[in-house]
Amino acid sequence: METSDEAAAVLDAVRAYHRSRRTEREFVPGVTEIWPSGAVLDEDDRVALAEAALDMRIAAGRSARRFESVFARRLGRRKAHLTNSGSSANLLALSSLTSHLLEDERLRPGDEVVTVAAGFPTTVNPILQNGLVPVFVDIDLRTYNTTAERVERAIGPRTRAIMIAHALGNPFQAREIAQIAEDRGLFLVEDNCDAVGSYYDGQVTGSFGDLSTVSFYPAHHITMGEGGCVLTSNLLLARVVESMRDWGRDCWCEPGESDTCRKRFSYQLGTLPQGYDHKYTFSHVGYNLKGTDLQAALGLTQLEKLDSFGEARRRNWRRMREGLDGVPGLILPEATPGSDPSWFGFVVTVDPEAPFGRAELVRFLESRRIGTRLLFAGNLTRHPAYLDRPHRVAENLDNSDIATDQTFWTGVYPGLTDEMIDYVVSSITEFVKERGAVAP
Ligand SMILES: Cc1ncc(COP(=O)(O)O)c(C=O)c1O
Repeated sequence: METSDEAAAVLDAVRAYHRSRRTEREFVPGVTEIWPSGAVLDEDDRVALAEAALDMRIAAGRSARRFESVFARRLGRRKAHLTNSGSSANLLALSSLTSHLLEDERLRPGDEVVTVAAGFPTTVNPILQNGLVPVFVDIDLRTYNTTAERVERAIGPRTRAIMIAHALGNPFQAREIAQIAEDRGLFLVEDNCDAVGSYYDGQVTGSFGDLSTVSFYPAHHITMGEGGCVLTSNLLLARVVESMRDWGRDCWCEPGESDTCRKRFSYQLGTLPQGYDHKYTFSHVGYNLKGTDLQAALGLTQLEKLDSFGEARRRNWRRMREGLDGVPGLILPEATPGSDPSWFGFVVTVDPEAPFGRAELVRFLESRRIGTRLLFAGNLTRHPAYLDRPHRVAENLDNSDIATDQTFWTGVYPGLTDEMIDYVVSSITEFVKERGAVAP
């Protein structure tokens, strides 16, 4: 699209404004906050937002369509649907499996979905929100993922789907779990919200499941502020996802368009009169979970940096891992064998035998302005919201309980410098030494 002289002048001014605002943040150990995550935004991001605003593209439009097409290609999927968050993407992905269009394959209330107990709540919530039953499997400490064996053993006669997140950027055994899903006639939904740009067995995550989801919240690999995406190569599922995202409508015209099917006034559906406007015909009990062009415009410029962001995440993680290697009292993270993770964070479990607890270590780090986070909810089944909800626990959740008590993570996001990483390493090492932990 052509930019008018006036708009070009405004955008030049935006560039000048961006440069005038740029200040290198001097790092002062113990004073400067080391965030666990954050958005890294540059001049092009600011200009993209300003350009969309100048055009007043306040709803989904050309940037949304372009983002969906570029992002789908990037993840090797035929379709991507932009949403207003990663949680919305999860809700849409799982809800789409209940569609009548899937006929006998559809998930029905009371059917089971295998999922992981220790993680983010909105990987699990759509299961309950659809009247389905989560079957919780445990994780491994070090990878923080479950295993194909655990998933296989958890499958029961009513199990119809598997919905699992790649843990903090570290891929689960996606190839093996996708194979189990195929062999057992189950759907696989891959929550790829924390792992965009990771690989398992040489294949990008988000491309193994029947459906996969992404979050673009600022903590994530690329950001739109708020935002998310559902991806699939199954065109029937894509149609259901779009319908459920857009109020449940039967029509697939883009906002502002009419009659792309050229039959707008020719359908007879339900018990509606012949010719009832297809734009207002609803085939699903849907939602409105759409994103906007402002979000997508930012997403497009962020997407150009996905590779360099991934490199920085990997570099920061390696520096942390090498720096902490051999420090006693800590269980350090490991990539799932066969994977190349674009890490979300650096996860540490305090060894239950260590002469200090997680709470002390976290408090010490926070006192040094080093931001920490927990493994999200830890064991979800222990939270008030889930105590009385129907669920099944497969085997046990022993490691999920250890993660609830002993695990935390610090940042590896691209905004962190070597100096910051080294300060985190030296702070942890100093703390452990003072507490007298010794190597076994
Ligand atoms: C694994 C996982 N799934 C889903 C979400 C939800 O994403 P959003 O915050 O965009 O709703 C998150 C949030 O961080 C997450 O970590």
